[in-house]
Amino acid sequence: MNVLITGGAGFIGSHTADALLACGHRVRILDLLDPQIHGHSAKFPSYLDPRIECIHGDVRSIKDVGRALEDMDAVCHFASLTGVGQSMYDVRNYVDTNCNGTAVLIETIVKTHKNIKRLVLSSSRAVYGEGTHYCSEHGLQHPQPRTREKMEAGIFSVLCPHCEQPMLSRPTAEARPLYPMTVYAETKKHQEDYCRFAAKTFGLPVTILRYFNVYGQRQSLTNPYTGVVSIFFSRFAAGQPVVLYEKGRSEGDFVHVSDVAQANVLALETDTKPGSCFNIGFGKPCAIRDVAEALASACGGKAILEDRGEFRVGDIRSCFADISMASSVLGYEPQIDLAHGMKQFANWARGESSSDLYQKTIDELSRYGLFGKAKAA
Ligand SMILES: NC(=O)c1ccc[n+]([C@@H]2O[C@H](COP(=O)([O-])OP(=O)(O)OC[C@H]3O[C@@H](n4cnc5c(N)ncnc54)[C@H](O)[C@@H]3O)[C@@H](O)[C@H]2O)c1
Ligand SMILES: [Zn+2]
Repeated sequence: MNVLITGGAGFIGSHTADALLACGHRVRILDLLDPQIHGHSAKFPSYLDPRIECIHGDVRSIKDVGRALEDMDAVCHFASLTGVGQSMYDVRNYVDTNCNGTAVLIETIVKTHKNIKRLVLSSSRAVYGEGTHYCSEHGLQHPQPRTREKMEAGIFSVLCPHCEQPMLSRPTAEARPLYPMTVYAETKKHQEDYCRFAAKTFGLPVTILRYFNVYGQRQSLTNPYTGVVSIFFSRFAAGQPVVLYEKGRSEGDFVHVSDVAQANVLALETDTKPGSCFNIGFGKPCAIRDVAEALASACGGKAILEDRGEFRVGDIRSCFADISMASSVLGYEPQIDLAHGMKQFANWARGESSSDLYQKTIDELSRYGLFGKAKAA
């Protein structure tokens, strides 16, 4: 196949390009080289395989997208802005890139490039909001966001909406209701909706993948707005303690980028019903404190962790993936556990330059009222 990857110079796109080349496919990328990710040089990163055809262009431009789609059989649409906190105040940029960019791509395919045989969209676990939880009295729940008042009182657990008792986290499956809690999450839901409409109306063969917490080599070490593992590494490299929010007990589902790249290849190669949607995670919850410790041990040191009772408004307490659909329909089986994945990440990151812009983001979040401190702490 000839595959176009929008945002292909970035973290997940570049690994997907390598995985596609390894399977004998041809790859073209369309990327704007956003300075927040790639710095100001406007050069394609040196990690890109020389066999990749690179187009410097914007997914919001009908002209650039039309040119990039010429002779292509399939598309991975990854171009997006990805900072969850930042999306709350840089609203126009997030809506413009993520929603308008997807609108331009779909419109161009529907009007002039109907030959596209598969479109893979990178959505996010963010569309769920808080993960699925279980109350021993009231059963499975899909809770609404936690309130600032409770978090200021030091109550970080997700409480049952009926009896206010703390609940246990359960695997989150694709069919449950979506409760986006941030502008970023809403834009990912919009991207999904445009794809589903095109699938329903025109039979556009779209596969939607909801990635969980992706980490690994090439995740920007200079973008302070996204990627907790990269942010932690930049703190270690600067000899600074890692500040844990919510006592380090919030949980994600950490999946190595090579597993995500494999999922993308499987989604491109599998003839699924247009509009199908799959979770792509490791399938297990992992506390942020354990992530910091696994990274420190992979770096050969000990983590200096600080708990100041702080929290970020809009953070998800716990969400991990039910990957049974991806496994049974796509044949997706994640291979890389956290210890192994962290070693690969640390070996790469040690040779890279990083910048610790942590304080800058905290100042920014505080200025917009998105940062809090538990009074009880
Ligand atoms: N990394 C994660 O943990 C994660 C989790 C869930 C979903 N996702 C989604 O996966 C996709 C890829 O994320 P990533 O982590 O590789 O991010 P990334 O920032 O490394 O890559 C995104 C790429 O898109 C490019 N881009 C931005 N605006 C563009 C535009 N207007 N036109 C063309 N290119 C543009 C950037 O230059 C960058 O190279 C995104 O859609 C993101 O929302 C990522
Ligand atoms: Zn209950």
